[in-house]
Amino acid sequence: MERIFGKPIIDQEEMQKRIRDLGRQIASDYEGRDLLLVGVLKGAFAFYADLARAIQLPLRVDFLVVTSEYKHKKSGKVEIISDLSQNITGQDVLLVEDIVDSGLTVSYLKKSLMAKRPRSLKICTLLDKPERRKVKVDVDYIGFSIPNKYVVGYGLDYKNKYRNLPYIAVLDVSEEGDE
Ligand code: IMP
Ligand code: MG
Repeated sequence: MERIFGKPIIDQEEMQKRIRDLGRQIASDYEGRDLLLVGVLKGAFAFYADLARAIQLPLRVDFLVVTSEYKHKKSGKVEIISDLSQNITGQDVLLVEDIVDSGLTVSYLKKSLMAKRPRSLKICTLLDKPERRKVKVDVDYIGFSIPNKYVVGYGLDYKNKYRNLPYIAVLDVSEEGDE
């Protein structure tokens, strides 16, 4: 059985402070422009909701749902289960992710969104695990860089659980006695 390991590595207070700063930075970078904030579900839901409210601009919202293939992603295959509900051609798009790990998901999404010819496309991720990168990807806004540990909470899951934790914690995954 898996269990939460030790204390949170990012607690609620640190989280809210960092998101306020990111929100301010993004609002100033996009001032006077028409921003479309695109959340990658399910993982980004918590970060997205807080970030959107920290950006003091009249932005628009949309979402993509991708398969979570953490275990099978050696193939590098990312599937869009549910696509955007609007045309992004000519729009300033900011993609909001929970974590950039190998980089495969973000680089796939970047390619597929760029094909729709937005005016600009930037990436914002709550967490970054630079040690695990397999493909080079430019990330424009990073909440926190973290070590190479499996983490859950604040949208991130293990087998679709723990997404509702209000902080980020390391998960100790020992498959012993599991299933
Ligand atoms: P990628 O390897 O950069 O393509 O990341 C793919 C996805 O794997 C992320 O969007 C997360 O949903 C998931 N993921 C990567 N690392 C973790 C982790 O430490 N905890 C939970 N999910 C993770
Ligand atoms: Mg994700």
